[in-house]
Amino acid sequence: MGFDLPSLITARSGEGYDLHARYLNPQLPKMLHAIGFDKEYVRAEGTYLYDRDGNRYADFLAGFGVFGVGHNHPVVRKALHDMLDSELADLIQFDCALLPGLLAERLLAKAPEFDRVYFGNSGTEAVETSLKFARYATGRKRILYCSHAFHGLTTGSLSVNGAAEFRKGFDPLLPDVSVPLGDTDVLEAELRKGDVAALIVEPIQGKGVWMPPAGFLRAASDLLHKYGALLICDEVQTGLGRTGRFFGYQHEDVEPDIVTVAKALSGGFVPVGATMTKGWIFDKVYSSMDRVLVHDSTFGSNAAAMAAGLASLAVIEDEQLVSNAERTGDALRAALTDMVEKYELLGEVRGRGLMIGLEFSKPSSLKLRPGWSMLQAARVGLFAQMVVVALFQRHRILTQVSGDHTEVIKLLPPLTIGQAEVDLFREAFDDVMRDAHRGSGLMWDFGRTLVKQAVNR
Ligand SMILES: Cc1ncc(COP(=O)(O)O)c(C=O)c1O
Repeated sequence: MGFDLPSLITARSGEGYDLHARYLNPQLPKMLHAIGFDKEYVRAEGTYLYDRDGNRYADFLAGFGVFGVGHNHPVVRKALHDMLDSELADLIQFDCALLPGLLAERLLAKAPEFDRVYFGNSGTEAVETSLKFARYATGRKRILYCSHAFHGLTTGSLSVNGAAEFRKGFDPLLPDVSVPLGDTDVLEAELRKGDVAALIVEPIQGKGVWMPPAGFLRAASDLLHKYGALLICDEVQTGLGRTGRFFGYQHEDVEPDIVTVAKALSGGFVPVGATMTKGWIFDKVYSSMDRVLVHDSTFGSNAAAMAAGLASLAVIEDEQLVSNAERTGDALRAALTDMVEKYELLGEVRGRGLMIGLEFSKPSSLKLRPGWSMLQAARVGLFAQMVVVALFQRHRILTQVSGDHTEVIKLLPPLTIGQAEVDLFREAFDDVMRDAHRGSGLMWDFGRTLVKQAVNR
């Protein structure tokens, strides 16, 4: 019998967790079993996932941000079907295909201060490109990054990662230095040494949803340019409307030299990464015909990724998802901010557009303090995990703890959500917070289970 994907899926349905345990990263199924996230999803549409029993889940994780236009958007699906049906000559390498040119043209129209685009296959590859380009274009070696930063996990990107737990054991990395987010004095002290190629920064940090203080990007950009260094804005997560502007840096009056894009450009289908730069940077890196392949990737610019990218950009524009992210995000943040007064465990609500962080903080009441301290002693982040699990188990809403050792949960729903999803989340979160403030009950029992697991890790 020939290959038939639907039959294969039907025949082996239900084996995903066992296969992962046997052949892939075994810690993933183990972790998912431990927190009761071990569902088998069989279908997804828009904001919602469906498991094999027909239960519906609201996806406020969006595949770490790839589903900007929602799951299985019909326009992106059609573009991919059309692309396959046209039997394009793809990945010829020695040709200049149409689709990458069109996608570059469309992306650059969103940020006319840039001139050229390099296409790779992921966020981390877009970042690697930015680091290489910045070093080559300036002739300098060091890249600065911010505390808490996350730019991907390949070795170059890891060198600009602000969390020790990711870096540990992978040394030596590139000779780079961390700057506390928002600290222009430390930045200038490093720049004075004269060997800094660039600062890489997320307009809103993905880990912890930390926001640089207002004016920091502008001040950093001025300083960098004064000392002949570049500003790289990593828009892998914040780009394409997530924060209520097409790019996150556009909230400030600032012109980066390089911008990285990935995640949502894929339409949630085909991995892609893009690095947008000023023209002079390309002129330096690709300075002669001899250097035409000096930075390149076999699968970059493949037709499937380009078609998905073009369709995703069209959907973002046609459905006005950037303004929807701003409007819906404002409504969701306002509804959640109202709860800060009501619930002492909720410390802060922050973010922009549909990138929202909920930070929990130490309670002052005697009823809640022992439970909080028990969780903190075992591992910082367990309270946030308890909330994520309660949102999932009781309300079928998928969220995540935003980084290791942090009491922050992050909301990153598709940019297509509306008032119905704002209400859904507000009511669910209110219910979970109300329960958490009882200081006992099922939620705290689960907290004790998490403590045992943390101790036995
Ligand atoms: C800001 C940022 N940069 C880079 C990356 C890495 O992207 P990828 O996982 O596609 O390599 C991520 C991923 O979460 C990210 O949030």
